Amino acid sequence: MLDDMSATDPFLARYARGTKAMTASEIRALFAVAARPEIVSLAGGSPHTAGLPFPELRELVDEVLATEGPTALQYGPGQGDPRAREVFTMLMSEEGIEASPDDVVPTVGSQQALDLVARMFCDPGDVILAEGPSYVGALSAFSQYQVEVVHVPLDDGGLSPDALAATLDRLSAAGRHPKFLYTVPNFHNPAGVSMAEDRRDRVLDLARSHDVLVVEDNPYGLLGFDVETPPALRARDADNVVYLGTLSKIFCPGLRLGWALVPPALRDRLVQVKEASDLSTSNLTQAIAYHYFTGFPWRETLKSLREVYRERRDATLEALRETFPPEARWTEPEGGFYVWVRLPEPLDTKAMMPRALNARVAYVPGRGFFADGTGGNCLRLCYSFPRPDVIREGVHRLAGVLADELELIRALGALPRQKKGDR
Ligand SMILES: Cc1ncc(COP(=O)(O)O)c(C=O)c1O
Repeated sequence: MLDDMSATDPFLARYARGTKAMTASEIRALFAVAARPEIVSLAGGSPHTAGLPFPELRELVDEVLATEGPTALQYGPGQGDPRAREVFTMLMSEEGIEASPDDVVPTVGSQQALDLVARMFCDPGDVILAEGPSYVGALSAFSQYQVEVVHVPLDDGGLSPDALAATLDRLSAAGRHPKFLYTVPNFHNPAGVSMAEDRRDRVLDLARSHDVLVVEDNPYGLLGFDVETPPALRARDADNVVYLGTLSKIFCPGLRLGWALVPPALRDRLVQVKEASDLSTSNLTQAIAYHYFTGFPWRETLKSLREVYRERRDATLEALRETFPPEARWTEPEGGFYVWVRLPEPLDTKAMMPRALNARVAYVPGRGFFADGTGGNCLRLCYSFPRPDVIREGVHRLAGVLADELELIRALGALPRQKKGDR
């Protein structure tokens, strides 16, 4: 089906199939409207960069330019600055990963790593497994390579190993072999849940026994509020997991710095693909990251960011409990940025969006997080950016829209009437 962008595109007939297959991201299309000042945006996943220590950062950037300016502004090696690779290795050790910096490849955000991994492994028609719902940016990176994403359901304990086993068996019976399993095990985007500790080994065993690589995408692992982050999947299986990390949520996305930690046998190939894509990641941003994480009390900053996010999570959940209708269900994240809300069918959160924008609140409709067109009754709320009072106001506005929507659906006879006291 053509999206709005394609309908008026004079170049449409000339695009490669992979480009044609891409549809406008629901999130991107929303950003322009949601950015209007009168709208409370619970849509985009922007971190709280205003909470960073700017005077010290200014000094740090000055220092980098003063002491290593010519190198920082020069081209760099395809596998990046060895000092940045040390930093990334240190960050991964916080989640139980023992790795060598030699197996780390710095990338332009983890988004680039998603693209490079898909480029390395996927031909048109290949199958990739991914949680349902899944990070929309990963789905769009994969869609360029014309893969078929098969979703594996998740619940409050994250990806379900039983569902994974059933899906692997079904695909195997059909003679299909997934290229990899893409998973966000910690504080999932968009679902807000984490993979339960006792599921992790089982998921890894299943992947291994079916000869399926695991791509572990972990931007939020160090952003837990109530829980210690469980050891990463990569900490349990060094040979069959590609681990993707990023500084975007624990420091800032403006540096566009992420990395991939790969099994040694994949490293040179990944560097080749990376060099073909952009020669190298910026020397300047890697130098800034190196000095930030080695010369700076970054743990203190991260701790205060976590507190900010915890307060915003609490405000979101409190407002949901106070105002949302009894038919709504939502996840209760123990870290990260997102709450996933499930509403009764046939409510369609994309169709509801113009009404929400009229009421001056924005969210992300659920369908964009599924490659198979499901999720129409779901939505994602992101609490990382607005202040708690603004979040409360946004959730109240959305509750009003929702109440009207449900009333309309009931009037049409598509939902049973709510009895007093039902919850
Ligand atoms: C799950 C997940 N993966 C990857 C990314 C990409 O992050 P970046 O490219 O900024 O590192 C995001 C950003 O929101 C994300 O939520």
